[in-house]
Amino acid sequence: MLQETPATLSQRITLVTGASSGIGRAVALALARAGAFVVATGRSRERLAALADELAGQGEALPLDVSEPDDIARFMRSMGERHGRINALVVNAGVSPAVEIDTLTVTEYQSLMDVNVRGAVFTFAHALPLLSEGASVVFVGSVAARKGQPGDAVYAGSKGFVRAFARSLGTSPDLMKRRIRVNVVSPGPIETPLTEEATRNPEAKVYVEQLIPMRRWGRDAEVAQAVLFLLSEASSFTTGADLTVDGGMSHV
Ligand SMILES: NC(=O)c1ccc[n+]([C@@H]2O[C@H](COP(=O)([O-])OP(=O)(O)OC[C@H]3O[C@@H](n4cnc5c(N)ncnc54)[C@H](OP(=O)(O)O)[C@@H]3O)[C@@H](O)[C@H]2O)c1
Repeated sequence: MLQETPATLSQRITLVTGASSGIGRAVALALARAGAFVVATGRSRERLAALADELAGQGEALPLDVSEPDDIARFMRSMGERHGRINALVVNAGVSPAVEIDTLTVTEYQSLMDVNVRGAVFTFAHALPLLSEGASVVFVGSVAARKGQPGDAVYAGSKGFVRAFARSLGTSPDLMKRRIRVNVVSPGPIETPLTEEATRNPEAKVYVEQLIPMRRWGRDAEVAQAVLFLLSEASSFTTGADLTVDGGMSHV
């Protein structure tokens, strides 16, 4: 007999990094609408305050800089004291500064890696003791990890790390014993503050559209729906997957 697999996230304690803007914010709001309790984190206190209002009792918005592993450890301790568990984790915080490989400095390299790579690793590592039996984790990767991104090789490399890291965790026997699933969502070009420079420039905007079979940029809410699917029981037999949300871009 078929068993019901509820897609609801009601009563789940969920944690989202980089939720003060763009994709993370859309995920936080979609989770709240799905009935989850959302712990939304980011750096900008102003944007976090606005998000807290929007969450309206369905969550909280708290500062967390993921480039500081000690801060992440402290944050997770306090998360444990307040909520006791994490049912769903979204490792989303990321930066994409324009860094040219021929003039790259160690400082530029380090500040990108501190967020996209070290931040992702220690967010997961410090959250791990709190992840409940049957928890679901989603890492936000990028189409850049699958196709490469000419002119943005360091960013693409950082997302390549995220993809391999998440896929390895997603099939880890230790996590499988705890029924913890780990998946990646890989967005293509999405209109967010991160990509504002390109979307405000008509030539750059159209150039990118020509690279996408669906001939348009994606929306943060479209990525959020893919994340929600992977966090919910609707995807109960899916782990180690990389779900593209890119208008077909990675398949041409
Ligand atoms: N937009 C796209 O086209 C696209 C495509 C592929 C992948 N992605 C990935 O999707 C994720 C979200 O990007 P987005 O487009 O939504 O960008 P966004 O609008 O710029 O949002 C980035 C978020 O990351 C947070 N963040 C940055 N540095 C942080 C740090 N040190 N500690 C904690 N939070 C930090 C930001 O917080 P504050 O603003 O508070 O600092 C913000 O909430 C990123 O991982 C990005 O690489 C985006």
